[in-house]
Amino acid sequence: MNNTQLKNSNKVYQKAEIQARVYFHALLNVIKSRKVFPTLEKNLEELVGKPLISRILTAPAKSVKNKEYSSYIHWLVKTGSLTSYLDRSISYIYLRDLGKSLDSDETRDRINHVVKDLEKYLTKTNKEPFRLVELYRWAQKEQIEATFIWLMDKLKMVSDHIPEGMDQDNAKRKLIKIIAGVLLHEFEEMEESISSNERAKRLDEAIRLGYCYGLTYPFIDDLLDADVLTDHEKKQYSQLLRTTFTQREVAEWEEWAGENEELIRFVHQELGEAFSFINERISKEVKEKFFDQVFIFYQSQEIDREKNLSDPNFTNEELYLPVILKSSSSRLLVRSLIGNSDIEIDNRTFYYGLYNQLSDDFTDLFQDYESGAVTPYTYYLAYHNDRNDLINPFELYWAVIYYLIHHVYQSDKKTAQIILNRAINGLKRNKERLGEGKYHQLMNVFARNMDSFHQSILQLMNKINDVDFFDKLLRDNMLNTMKKERKEKKTFLNHSKTIRNELNKRLRIGRSYGLDEPITEAANYSLASDAKRLRPIVASMIATDIYQLDQVTIIPLLKSLEYMHTASLIFDDLPSQDNASIRRGKPTLHEAYNSATAELTGLFLTQKAYEEQATLDQFDTKTVLELIQYSAKMTAEMCKGQAIDLESKGKKLTLPELNQMCYFKTGIGFEAAIMMPMILAQAPDKEKELMKKYAYHAGIAFQIKDDLLDVEGKKDIIGKPIGNDEDNDSSTFVSVLGKTEAKKAMWEHYCEAQESLNGMPESANFLRHLLDYFINREK
Ligand code: IPE
Ligand code: IPE
Ligand code: MG
Ligand code: MG
Ligand code: MG
Repeated sequence: MNNTQLKNSNKVYQKAEIQARVYFHALLNVIKSRKVFPTLEKNLEELVGKPLISRILTAPAKSVKNKEYSSYIHWLVKTGSLTSYLDRSISYIYLRDLGKSLDSDETRDRINHVVKDLEKYLTKTNKEPFRLVELYRWAQKEQIEATFIWLMDKLKMVSDHIPEGMDQDNAKRKLIKIIAGVLLHEFEEMEESISSNERAKRLDEAIRLGYCYGLTYPFIDDLLDADVLTDHEKKQYSQLLRTTFTQREVAEWEEWAGENEELIRFVHQELGEAFSFINERISKEVKEKFFDQVFIFYQSQEIDREKNLSDPNFTNEELYLPVILKSSSSRLLVRSLIGNSDIEIDNRTFYYGLYNQLSDDFTDLFQDYESGAVTPYTYYLAYHNDRNDLINPFELYWAVIYYLIHHVYQSDKKTAQIILNRAINGLKRNKERLGEGKYHQLMNVFARNMDSFHQSILQLMNKINDVDFFDKLLRDNMLNTMKKERKEKKTFLNHSKTIRNELNKRLRIGRSYGLDEPITEAANYSLASDAKRLRPIVASMIATDIYQLDQVTIIPLLKSLEYMHTASLIFDDLPSQDNASIRRGKPTLHEAYNSATAELTGLFLTQKAYEEQATLDQFDTKTVLELIQYSAKMTAEMCKGQAIDLESKGKKLTLPELNQMCYFKTGIGFEAAIMMPMILAQAPDKEKELMKKYAYHAGIAFQIKDDLLDVEGKKDIIGKPIGNDEDNDSSTFVSVLGKTEAKKAMWEHYCEAQESLNGMPESANFLRHLLDYFINREK
């Protein structure tokens, strides 16, 4: 690292420290003036004035109390409190995140506008917020599908690399939050008259910038805080970061000593790309500001990380200046990315950080204390008896609130209301999280000297139940959803595995007595392989999870599906068709035997499939006949699909033609796997219709992914040749549309399929995970 660069960076930090010191002393003066509590108490009284009291509503139901998203929104609508709820929430975002103040007419108009839009949206739909499908639909509207797909791939990659011992959900949440923050700024900056192209371009850039910067949260902050790296590795990593931030581009990779080399290499690569992206996009002046804040952010964290709770001698400044700096720099960073400098707004942003940091540190107190981390709270908890010079962080918390209300916002009434609401909300949430006992135990230490004020706060906390904020609801909902989906996904994958293993034991075909022939052996060669068995897996889940059919009774159906499918692959691979040499990780059947054997084995397996279906004698004859008729029809249709596919070599098909071809060659197989158990279960026609639609779109999405894997898959993983389509000059989604458009088409089908599930019972939810698997699979 270059010495001048280091010196410059240190200077930047020192300069920031001076600003932080001024702020800190202003806060200390506020505390000394003894005005904080009497004034805030008066402000609180105003808060409980008439309008609020009348809003103390009838006791909400449990799901509302637990803030379950839909019930809670419904309750707000029913009690007529949605508008004030949104007004409070959106105003707070404008104050804190956008650095605005409520005394401007323009800002108030904007807030009203956003509140109205949101209100309309929330009263209209009762859907969970920001689900993937909805987000993709939004991206389509904004013409930024490619950006969305890019982001999804990135998020997946990040999740895949978050090591155990770190909180994956929170890492993802933080990244998304940062991106949302940058987007929010961008929305605010854009004029309404902007062209849709220009708008798309700016949104694209905002999302990418947000991601690039957001990466620092999981991979710098959280990683250094977690117990994943050894002390020595942390030192090396810190050094790498310091060099990066002082020289303003990612340091070259040097040697690594430690077990986590692969992880750090990945991080190095990803951060490197992120930083060059940022470097290219922002002006020189903004770059300065950005990297200054990055360094301040990093340096203040480093200083805090190196502190030891057993050291009794930290001064107040040593405790608080880094906290002020880290919290403000993280906000200023996002602002600088947008490249809009406004000193006044920057100043407001600067004052906010500490408030949030002090409430976060309060939340994490016990966890921090146990891990020996020094925060204003842990330190005060450890030393308040021995050191009466120590500032009480809880008092400082209120001083910051006082300062914000009366200095930054010049005692504006509405602003005071919102900020106090937010503060009470924060305490309520903490109390709920910690439980009464722990909360009071803490308050005995931290609220010792604020008797009457704390009493008022406590009363208020019990009395008012509408101090909630929309962003908190979204946050909780996002975390709950991620948790729920992770659990469901795990169940789905485990369940699939069980079905697959059970089926694998039963697929083998027995030899006819005394006859020496190669066909049975050849069939078993194709069957005994590393296949996904998706069609029987889906069929089994539909049969048992949605329609409660007996899992043993339907085994012949499952076998028949895999026999049919395996036959179709044997034909597909023949020299006269795709001429493929590898299938399911081993030589194709015609390679291992010969074409004649392969052809006969394909035919043999389709017949075996019907034989199996005809043994479904626990169902009534008519139903089984319907099943067999359906099955024969679908197999015939599939042949047509394959023929169209072969005919289309070298042709430039249109999108509808591509869809049709894929439906016939692949979609129909999935449709059969889904419809056949429904036929046996005599499922209602309405559900059959929905599921047909699901199968159609899911099947095509599956084939598009197959086409994509043919160009970007890994040979060892997929177990079939890469580039086979190109060799054959086949018309695929990728060859006709190119990768980007193929991915868009895949997402469109993904969304259509997901949407068709909206009318299905909860028990069909596994089909959502199946779809996720379809588009994310590597095999
Ligand atoms: C391959 O099907 C044929 C296509 C429809 C693309 P799978 O991808 O389900 O193959 P296996 O059964 O797991 O080998
Ligand atoms: C196959 O499509 C469709 C069938 C039903 C056999 P592909 O030809 O793309 O399948 P792979 O890639 O060979 O598995
Ligand atoms: Mg083919
Ligand atoms: Mg093929
Ligand atoms: Mg293929």
